[in-house]
Formats: sequence, structure tokens, C-alpha cells
Amino acid sequence: VIVAIDGPAGAGKSTVARALARRLGAAYLDTGAMYRALAWLARREGVAASDGPALAALARANPVALRPDGDVLRVAIAGADVTDAIRAPEVGALTSEVSAHPAVREAVVAAQRALLAGGGSWVCDGRDVGSVVWPGAEVKVFLTAAPEVRARRRAGDLAARGTPVAVDAVLAELRERDHRDSTRADSPLVVADGAVELDTTGMSFDEVVDALAGLAARSGAGAR
Ligand code: DC
Repeated sequence: VIVAIDGPAGAGKSTVARALARRLGAAYLDTGAMYRALAWLARREGVAASDGPALAALARANPVALRPDGDVLRVAIAGADVTDAIRAPEVGALTSEVSAHPAVREAVVAAQRALLAGGGSWVCDGRDVGSVVWPGAEVKVFLTAAPEVRARRRAGDLAARGTPVAVDAVLAELRERDHRDSTRADSPLVVADGAVELDTTGMSFDEVVDALAGLAARSGAGAR
């Protein structure tokens, strides 16, 4: 069974996807981490964020390795563990630019499909999983929340990681990223055909996970 959770930055997709994967006994695929790892590598290698073909070549030559380690999904590329480095706000901004190139998306989506085609159950989060990567997903959810709520959650995450950023700055960055992610020509952030929209503004984390587990159970994924 494949569960696709898409939505804007800060909607809580990754925390929710991780918890749902654990509950369903499924593997977790963080599609954003693959774009972030590529952006990190591009910066290290001095490849410009505007150079789509060079970035795509870099992606093809350097597969991203995702390895669950307790509650953490370790991310590695080109022999470097980038699990923490890819969460830096600068990498996030760069990733939005890097991931807009069609050639980059083609390379990264191919890698994502290869993982999912390997079989087993997966919970994936991203922007285009239900619309482009795996339109046949048994469960498709579009997770969203008011921008202010998303900014507050994200600022909380950053503070917990020891890199506090003012909520206003997070909100400004988030609006800019939302705009770029939803207006890009290739695979913009859209509600996929057949996706259930869930606005988590007034919901607790547990309520959101319960709601998704309910959807998965109805689809036959057998939540336990
Ligand atoms: O979900 P995230 O914050 O890790 O995503 C980082 C960036 O990558 C974000 O700007 C959108 C992009 N992204 C994408 O284009 N497609 C995906 N499936 C996942 C992320």
C-alpha cells in the first residue's frame, strides 16, 4: 500500500508521515530530503542553482541513500551524512530553486519511483507524490494549515533543533516558498486527483495521525 501525503511547507507532513508509517508498519519516504540533499551537494560542488542540466547530471551520478535509524531517517549523498545539514534554512531556500528544474525533477522522480516499485508499504511525503510520482497511491492526502500556524510550527521545530529563527522571518520565507512551489511550471503544488484535503489548523498532532490512519484503514491498508 502506498500513502501519498502532499502539501505546503510546514503543514506537518513529515512528522505525521513518520508517525503514520510506524503505525502501519510501512517504510517512510521523505521526497523533500532527496531534493534537499541534491541542493546541499550542488552548493558543495559549486554547481549553480540555475543550471538545470548540470544539477540533473549531479543527481543521476549521486543517488541519495535513505536509512531508517530508530526514529530518524538518515540521509546520505556522495558519501556524506547530510541528515542535519539539509535542514538549514539556506538549504531549504536553495532546494526550492533546485527542485523547480524539469530535468532535476525527472531524475529525482525516477529515483523515487524505483524505490516504491521495489514493493512493500510506503508512506511518502512531498509536493507531487499523489499527482506525479505515484498517482496510483491507494491513499492520497493534501495536508494544509493556515500560514501563521505553519510558521509557528516550523519556528518551534527550528528552535528545538537549536537554531531559533523569528516567526515573522519563517512566515516570510514560507510564503515565498509556497508561491514558488505552487507557480512553477513543472509539477506545481496541487491537490492531486482523488486526494482528500485535510486542514490541520485546529487539530492536534494525534488527531491528524488518527484521521490519516482512518483513511488508510478504509483503503484496506489495515491500520493497527
Ligand atoms: O518538504 P521539504 O520542506 O523538505 O521540501 C523542500 C523543497 O523541496 C520545497 O521547496 C519543495 C521541494 N519539493 C518538491 O519540489 N517536491 C517534492 N516532492 C518534495 C519537495
